[in-house]
Amino acid sequence: MTDQTDPALDPLRARIASAQLGAEAEERGKVIAIADGLAMVDGLPGAELNEIVTFATGARGFVLTLEEDHLNVACLDPADDVAAGTRVTRTGLLASVPVGEGLFGRVLDPLGRPLDDGPLPDSEERLPVERPAPSIIDRDFVSEPVETGLLVVDALFAIGRGQRELIIGERQTGKTSIAVDTIINQANSDIISIYVAIGQRTSAVRHVIDAVREHGRMDQTIFIVAEASAEPGLQWLAPFSATSIAEWFRDRGRHVLIVYDDLTKHAATHRELALLSRQPPGREAYPGDIFYLHARLLERAAKLSKARGGGSLTALPIAEIEAGNLSAYIPTNLISISDGQIVMSQSLFAANQRPAIDIGLSVSRVGGKAQRATMKSVSGRLRLDYAQYLEMKMFSRFGGFGDEAMAARMKRGERIAALLAQPRLSPLDLLTQIALLSALNDGMLDDVDLAEIAHLKTKLPSMLANDSRLSDLDLRAPKLDHEKRSAILEVVQSALKQA
Ligand SMILES: Nc1ncnc2c1ncn2[C@@H]1O[C@H](COP(=O)(O)OP(=O)(O)OP(=O)(O)O)[C@@H](O)[C@H]1O
Ligand SMILES: [Mg+2]
Repeated sequence: MTDQTDPALDPLRARIASAQLGAEAEERGKVIAIADGLAMVDGLPGAELNEIVTFATGARGFVLTLEEDHLNVACLDPADDVAAGTRVTRTGLLASVPVGEGLFGRVLDPLGRPLDDGPLPDSEERLPVERPAPSIIDRDFVSEPVETGLLVVDALFAIGRGQRELIIGERQTGKTSIAVDTIINQANSDIISIYVAIGQRTSAVRHVIDAVREHGRMDQTIFIVAEASAEPGLQWLAPFSATSIAEWFRDRGRHVLIVYDDLTKHAATHRELALLSRQPPGREAYPGDIFYLHARLLERAAKLSKARGGGSLTALPIAEIEAGNLSAYIPTNLISISDGQIVMSQSLFAANQRPAIDIGLSVSRVGGKAQRATMKSVSGRLRLDYAQYLEMKMFSRFGGFGDEAMAARMKRGERIAALLAQPRLSPLDLLTQIALLSALNDGMLDDVDLAEIAHLKTKLPSMLANDSRLSDLDLRAPKLDHEKRSAILEVVQSALKQA
């Protein structure tokens, strides 16, 4: 009879008890095929979606999709020396990014690795790149504005904190400029900014970073960059990981503006990875989950309830269209996911009306509620007057208008167009915007030279700021009182006289 209690066998029993049979075999996988940054991996049945895995070469990737008999892994490092047969191991860690104050002023890749010459970001905390959107109960209504400093946007398409406003247009029509101007205009606000570059040229990203730096906004801005030359896996992750960084602030009661430049390129990367992993192509060869991809991203933008700290995450996704075709697949998806769109017009851009925003096609579906009442009171007729002017202008090509009332409207319209034109990187504060529109409504500008209006815009801000009668003006008040209104108009008057 063998002795169950023989102490000499104890070490052996302990070893048997601690051995996890099969576990080691499970954690071994190998590459079946790899192309263009996407590897098909056999084995690793325990791997989770978004889990980081390591190739024997040291390169890393993350689990993009789980198939019945293999995994699709998107590479996060150059993987030139990874080939069929290369061993793959799990890390048990989900793809994550460092978060926190230490990221301000930094240019990082979607995993938080420095792309500036700085050290690893100073942060102890990391968040997974994919996180659930806040529930309805945790949200509040959009009620506070994000001022862009662009008169045409703030007056006609006000954006609220927590809103998702799409900026959409053809190539080189000023899409990025709208977003950058908005970042720069936050100098006197408590909104912090995150700019996400997806599939952009290096020079374009540089341009944005330089503009933000020159305007002293670097210490309140974070850049997450996956350029066109970056691994597709990194480009795919970029908007998600940047949103996690934004959420860390949002969940601490802070206000964040995030710019995704641009989601058309993100969609193209998603399509590329899906085709490489042999998912069935759908419309325009995009996989069936492309709508869900961007819906789950943009749902993370929110205004949180008081109980959740009242923070907000405002999203400005950018999308590119071809030949003015707003009804292509990705544009229509994005339009339906967001709370409005700013549509850029190539013909306005060519006609030097910049920012070249098409006021007929643009809309902001929730921002009106967030617009300051003082602004609302002066911008009421603007859209209609401007739209009428544009129409009349088109018809006046066939002959002038004899009618005096018509001529007056044309005159007013030309002043509106001049007011709404604004060079890059020259945001107007709310008081200046209100002063300009008040003067317009009062007819004060009707006989002012069009060229003079541009001067007026540069002169007014400091004159208004230095006027003692306006020092206690509260633009959050529900109404501009009569006295202040006259003071504002007097300042405009003297600015015009100086010219
Ligand atoms: N308000 C403006 N006034 C004058 N020029 C402008 C204005 N906005 C943009 N531009 C100019 O138009 C060009 C294109 O601007 P921007 O890069 O913002 O466009 P985009 O639509 O983002 O281009 P892309 O399709 O290449 O991303 C730039 O040279 C920029 O300087
Ligand atoms: Mg751009």
